[in-house]
Amino acid sequence: MKKVKILLTGGTGFIGSHTAVELIESGYEVEILDNLYNSKIEALDHIAEITGVRPKFYKVDIRDKSVMKQVFAEGEFDAVIHFAGLKAVAESVEKPLEYYEVNIGGTINLLECMQEHSVHKIIFSSSATVYGEPDSPLCVESLPVGRDLANPYGRTKYFIEEILRDVAVSDPKFQVTILRYFNPIGAHASGLLGEDPNDKPNNLMPIVMKVAAGEISELSIYGNDYDTPDGTCIRDYIHVVDLAKGHVAAVEKIGQDEQVQTYNLGTGRGLSVMEIVKAFSKASGKALPHKVVGRRAGDLAALCADPSHAEEKLSWKTKLTIDDAMRDTINYLQKQGAKLK
Ligand code: NAD
Ligand code: UFG
Repeated sequence: MKKVKILLTGGTGFIGSHTAVELIESGYEVEILDNLYNSKIEALDHIAEITGVRPKFYKVDIRDKSVMKQVFAEGEFDAVIHFAGLKAVAESVEKPLEYYEVNIGGTINLLECMQEHSVHKIIFSSSATVYGEPDSPLCVESLPVGRDLANPYGRTKYFIEEILRDVAVSDPKFQVTILRYFNPIGAHASGLLGEDPNDKPNNLMPIVMKVAAGEISELSIYGNDYDTPDGTCIRDYIHVVDLAKGHVAAVEKIGQDEQVQTYNLGTGRGLSVMEIVKAFSKASGKALPHKVVGRRAGDLAALCADPSHAEEKLSWKTKLTIDDAMRDTINYLQKQGAKLK
């Protein structure tokens, strides 16, 4: 029987590469399109080493409409998972047009190609950032979105969600699944895939990894005067392998329910920055150098997923723990040749 064929835009990136592995292991055929702006071609070798299958790769920029059309003419895809985009919050404030061009312009190109080639299933990487400053720290999908968004990156995610809803209204054949990720961390248990941004890291775990490897002298904790038990901010950290499996569940269900589906992918449990520091130190057996500095602009005290809708509709929930995520991160660092300080 012919396998269901899925195009992953941004598929050599952190979440895309882990999703490629889980999809291949679940019997799907995967092809990857990426311009390697924030990932490396070696991800393909690592996917092949883990799964025994090297996905076909297109080195293409999603903004390049004519080449994108060729990919779709060749590919005959059954569905697309759209990871490709820019994601550095602070950079989006400095370069809003670039963020709108890549994230929104690129998505419009993609949707036009899908429409022209009768590919009607799309799963989109959205973010908890669309909730803005929610009234409750526990987010359910029915909360209002798009209010009080602190930066252009967040607005691109919100606008793309709206564009996808408009396209679904205009064309009843389109099936849209919006996945709102909380804070993805961790690495593949093999140590072959993990988070390895080409640019200066902005997020907590990539910075923790650089501190542990001695490339940054200490972690700056942004504020310990929040209204949380230990004063540091709380987030919902989800192991990237659990997140990747959430995509497999979404692929399996797309088209079987309402035309547009939105799911939070998170654990439902919040952890503070201080708890992350402690969990990493416990796993590495070494103290992680850190100091408390002032708050970072735009940070919320606490943000956590209510994942019950995904659990009910996708029969998916997270299985891996924070200790698993820290163990896998350290294993990945060591496989990269890092000597933990
Ligand atoms: P990532 O940077 O590792 O992956 C994104 C991939 O997109 C990269 O491989 C990059 O090279 C590629 N890309 C960027 N611009 C492109 C372009 N113009 N054409 C083709 N490819 C391009 O990031 P990730 O953490 O794997 O995130 C994947 C998606 O999930 C992104 O859309 C991101 O906004 C979203 N997301 C991530 C997080 C997170 O914390 N990691 C949270 C919420 C949502
Ligand atoms: N933090 C530090 N020091 C650092 C980096 C981060 O203390 O050097 C703290 C932050 O203040 C925050 C927590 O660690 O309290 C997590 O910060 P991240 O930057 O890792 O993640 P955010 O929750 O700010 O944002 C992330 C993604 C966004 C996404 C959002 C959804 O970067 O793209 O999760 O919740 F939208």
